[in-house]
Amino acid sequence: MQQLHPDLWIADAPLRFAGLEVGSRMTVVRLPGPKLLLHSPIAASDELVREVKALGPVAYLVAPNRFHHLFVGDWQRACPDAAIYAAPGLDAKRADLAIAGELSDEPEPGWKGVLDQVLLDGFPLVNEVVFFHRSSATLIATDLAFNVGSNSPRLTRLAFRLAGSYGRLAPTLVERLFVRDRAAFRHSLERILEWPFERVVVAHGEVSEQGGREELIRGYSWVLATGGRG
Ligand SMILES: [Fe+2]
Repeated sequence: MQQLHPDLWIADAPLRFAGLEVGSRMTVVRLPGPKLLLHSPIAASDELVREVKALGPVAYLVAPNRFHHLFVGDWQRACPDAAIYAAPGLDAKRADLAIAGELSDEPEPGWKGVLDQVLLDGFPLVNEVVFFHRSSATLIATDLAFNVGSNSPRLTRLAFRLAGSYGRLAPTLVERLFVRDRAAFRHSLERILEWPFERVVVAHGEVSEQGGREELIRGYSWVLATGGRG
C-alpha cells in the first residue's frame, strides 16, 4: 500500500478494461476509532488483508458504483464485522451480498465529518458515488475519470493518446455514451467542483496531485458548458 496522507492509503492491482491494462485501485480511509473504510476493494490477497488490518479494524466496505463490487464479498469474509455500503442498483445485481445500506448524497453517520459524498445523478448505468476526504483535500473517484500516464503499459498509453485523453484526468467513452440526463449530471458535477480538493484519486491510472480540478472541468466541458436550465 502507498500512504498519501496520515489517514489515507491506496493499493493497486492489475485489471484489463476493454482489452487494455488499466489497473484498479482501492482507497483506504482511516476514520476515528480507528476504523477503516475500504473504497472500491481490490482482490483480498492474504498479504493485503494483513497490511490493511494492521492499520485498524475494517468497518466499512464501499462499492462506489455499479461496476466496482467484485471483491467486496471476499473482504467481508476476511472482515466479518465490516458493513457493505453499495451504489444504488447493486442490490439487484449482487443479491448474494449482505448490503447494509445504499449510498446516497448523504454521508453515513459512520464517516460523516471525515468524508462528504455526491451521487452522480443522471448516469444510471454506473450510479457512481464520489467522495471528498476533507482532512487531505482529496477527491476519491472511481470511474468519473481515468488518468492514464507514463506508468501505464505502452499499448494503453497509445490508446489513450489516440483518444486524446493521455496524461490527464479525463472521462471515457462510457460517460460520453451513457450519461442519460446531462442537466442532472452537471448539477452533481458542480457540487463536486465546490469541494476544495487538491489531490484526485481515481480507480484507473495515476493519482493526480495537482491540476485535477482544471482537468475535470476540461474533460467534462461537454456537460458543464451546456448551460441553460433543467
Ligand atoms: Fe472502473
